[in-house]
Amino acid sequence: MKILGIETSCDETAAAVIEDGEYIHSNVVASQATLHAQYGGIVPEIASRQHMITIVPVIRQALDEASMEAHELDGVAVTHGPGLAGALLIGVNAAKGFSLANELPFIGLNHLEGHIYAAWLEDGVNPEESPGFPLMCLIASGGHTDLILMKGHGDYTLIARTRDDAAGEAFDKAARALGLGFPGGPEIQRVAEHSIGGEPRFPRPVVRNSLDFSFSGLKTAVARRAEEYGIYPPSKEAPPDLQQVANVADAFQEAVVDCMVQRTIQAAKHYSVKGVILGGGVAANSHLRQEMHKHVPIEVIVPRPGLCTDNGAMMGAAGFFHFRDGHFRDGVRSQWDVDVVPSLRLG
Ligand code: KG4
Ligand code: ZN
Repeated sequence: MKILGIETSCDETAAAVIEDGEYIHSNVVASQATLHAQYGGIVPEIASRQHMITIVPVIRQALDEASMEAHELDGVAVTHGPGLAGALLIGVNAAKGFSLANELPFIGLNHLEGHIYAAWLEDGVNPEESPGFPLMCLIASGGHTDLILMKGHGDYTLIARTRDDAAGEAFDKAARALGLGFPGGPEIQRVAEHSIGGEPRFPRPVVRNSLDFSFSGLKTAVARRAEEYGIYPPSKEAPPDLQQVANVADAFQEAVVDCMVQRTIQAAKHYSVKGVILGGGVAANSHLRQEMHKHVPIEVIVPRPGLCTDNGAMMGAAGFFHFRDGHFRDGVRSQWDVDVVPSLRLG
C-alpha cells in the first residue's frame, strides 16, 4: 500500500511516498529555517505563506523521485495538528485537493503519531516485532516533550509532558542567549563539541511525584550565566569568549539530556515496557542518542536524524497503519470534514 504523506505543521514543507509503512520511495523536505533565522524564531505568517509557495512543487518532487503517478497511490495522509493553524491549513487543503482530484482516500493525522512511526522507517527495524509492544515513546520537539505509552497501533496513553517549555524550545532559547543561530538545537550540539568541560553544572529540574518535565528554569539559568559571562546581551566592543560559550552550551545540553534519560528510564520501568522509541527534532541530538543507548537497559530505537526532525515520510508511515487497520472501510472512504487542530493531543 503506497501512501503520500504530507507535513506542514511548522517550518518544513514536506511530502513523501511510503510503502507499507516502512519503505521510503521518496522523502522531500523543504526547510524554511533560513527564512525564520533572521527573526530568531518561527514567524507563523511567514511559515504559512512559504508553505503556500512550496507545497505543490514539494508534492510533485516527491512523486517524481518515487517515479510514481498519482493513480499508483492508495491514500493520502496529512498532519492536521498539533502545530500552527495557518501552516496546517495549507497542508490539509493541499492533501484534500490532491485526494479529491485523484479519487484517493484521505486521512488527517496527529503529528506526534508521525514522530513515533518514524521508528518503523529504518531498514530492518520493526518495533512491533522486536522488541514488541508495549513501548515507551519519548517525543521531544519544538513544541512537545511527551512520554507516551504505546500498547499497540493506535493505542496511546500520555504518561508525562512538560509543565512549561518543550525541550526543543529550551534548546532554541538557550542558543539565543548564547548568541547562537536558529534553530538552536543543532547549534548547541555543534558548539558543545568544542567544550573543554569544567563548567559548573546546571540544576536538573524535577517535578515532584510526577514524571513530568520542566525546562524553563534551566533556560533561565543559562540566560543568567550568559549575562554573568558577558555573552549576553551581545556587544561588538567585547565579543564573547567562544570557549566559554562552548562550555556553557555543553553543560546545558548535559542537563537537558540527563533529565530526559532519567525520566525515560523511570517511565520504562514503571510501565514494564519492552523497548523505547525516541522521536521529534531533539532526538536528532547526538548526545541524547548516545546517553539513551548507554543508560536505558532495554532496546532503544531512534530513527536517523533526518527522520527525527519534521518530514512527510513519518506521516506516510503512520497513515499506512490507519489505512491498513480499516479506518476507511464501512463506506467511510475519507474524512473530508477534517479540520486543523492546533493543540491536538495524543493519548
Ligand atoms: O520535530 P521538530 O522538527 O519540529 C517540531 O515538531 O517542533 O523539532 C524541532 C526542534 C527545534 O526546537 C530544534 O532546535 C530541535 O528540534 N532540534 C535539536 C536538534 N535538531 C533539531 N535539538 C537538539 N539537538 C539537535 N541536533
Ligand atoms: Zn515535529
